[in-house]
Amino acid sequence: MEFSVKSGHPEKQRTACVVIGVYESRRLSEIGNRLDEVGDKYLSSILRRGDLEGKIGQTLLLHNVPGTLADRVLLVGCGKERELGDTQFRKVITEAIKRLHDTGSMEAVCYLTDLNVKGKDIDWKVRQTIETAQAALYRFERLKTKTDTVRRPLRKIILSVSSRRELIASEKSAREAQAVVSGVQLTKDLANLPGNICTPTHLADEAKQIATRYERMSCKVLTEAQMKKQNMNALLAVSQGSDQPGCLIVLEYNGGDKKEKPYVLVGKGVTFDSGGISIKPSDKMDEMKYDMCGAASVLGTLQAVGELGLPINVVGVIPSVENLPSGKAVKPGDIVTTMSGQTVEILNTDAEGRLILCDALTYVEKYDPAIVIDIATLTGACVVALGKHAHGLLSTHNPLTNDLLNAGKYTGDRAWELPLWDEYQEQLDSPFADMANIGGRDGGTITAACFLSRYTKKYHWAHLDIAGTAWLEGKKEKGATGRPVSLLTQYLLDRCYERGLMPDSVSS
Ligand code: BES
Ligand code: MN
Ligand code: ZN
Repeated sequence: MEFSVKSGHPEKQRTACVVIGVYESRRLSEIGNRLDEVGDKYLSSILRRGDLEGKIGQTLLLHNVPGTLADRVLLVGCGKERELGDTQFRKVITEAIKRLHDTGSMEAVCYLTDLNVKGKDIDWKVRQTIETAQAALYRFERLKTKTDTVRRPLRKIILSVSSRRELIASEKSAREAQAVVSGVQLTKDLANLPGNICTPTHLADEAKQIATRYERMSCKVLTEAQMKKQNMNALLAVSQGSDQPGCLIVLEYNGGDKKEKPYVLVGKGVTFDSGGISIKPSDKMDEMKYDMCGAASVLGTLQAVGELGLPINVVGVIPSVENLPSGKAVKPGDIVTTMSGQTVEILNTDAEGRLILCDALTYVEKYDPAIVIDIATLTGACVVALGKHAHGLLSTHNPLTNDLLNAGKYTGDRAWELPLWDEYQEQLDSPFADMANIGGRDGGTITAACFLSRYTKKYHWAHLDIAGTAWLEGKKEKGATGRPVSLLTQYLLDRCYERGLMPDSVSS
């Protein structure tokens, strides 16, 4: 889908559809009133008759509206004006786009960006509209041989801004949004692929593909033999039960000075998590193809970084394996020596995420990182604690915590902090090794992060547990969300702006 921004009056738009907001109860938005004035009060007469209350997400499609040059006018309910916040705005956009898509309009001029959203400026509204619209239209149909094709699909949306001054700011955020969208879609596509297609090798090939798209990006992939030489025995222990070879994918983006410390992202890439010998129950086990969503979000974020041409250095590192039971599989009670030299008693082979991550987190020390963020579908406990709306955020560095929370608030891709206090550490005690890989039922998300914290002492680090947020369940909704690509990209953009650096996408 194509997006552009412009300023102009609604009655002058020669387009397939003009999209206008209506507040509860039956009150036209400012732009709606303007259209009403030039159109002999046609819109207000329709509302008075009670065809549209203005409840949030309601829609009404009108043809041949007097005074307009557009083929159609789509009225969209925005709820109570005073209550229009970011969540409500996203709902309004989603419903408008879905309706537009099946009206036969191939193009539309959207005036919803003119609505007043509590505490939000035009940059934000443009960015959200584009991200939300693309999400509303996303389908994963690569593996269907027959798909319902829409005869006249929506192709182009023009977002209206009220002044020329707003135009510059909105064009910048439209470009940012499109970069984020390309990253989100890549993440969703990869994550939705089944485990028989999306293997560790497939993830590595995808990473190599991404690197070829950007001059400043390069990719290398460590094989199991190479990882063996680096003593990544925890990662290899998880991988050893599978016939698919595991790997460590490294994507380097050099947008800044060579000597500058990079921002490092580490993504859990378990392409299928059966639990291994500590096998999971079969109900919903198919969803464990999504156990590589952290990895997919790192690839998506690097793609967005490449699109934006950010003037900083970013490294993506992905430990990727398949976790299966077999005669060669790691067993409960086995003890391994990690790359850091610390030993781990593997009491549960289903706590495999932390095992592959700990070696990757040690590996990234060599970059002398500015910060490291790992992203992982790490614990079922996080889904219980926070549901599907917030990522779990655990960190030992306050400024990083705040920066991530802020990026989440701005984008709506929100995280919530959980404590990482020393008191929890002792739950990992083992009589036979330096630590166990599980910490009991209590505070499962926290003890998992405690485990990782023992491998991240040499740099500033944060952990995002995306077990609840990376995908949605249910026949209709089921699919990857592409989160937290938006949050991570915003975090990196904020670092650029904070240092007065302009991305290529803005300066050119
Ligand atoms: N990938 C799972 C976590 C998960 C479960 C994510 C359900 C999303 C939905 C992870 O590898 C795992 O199995 N974790 C165990 C840890 C436990 C054995 C300490 C869990 O959460 O049950
Ligand atoms: Mn597991
Ligand atoms: Zn897992």
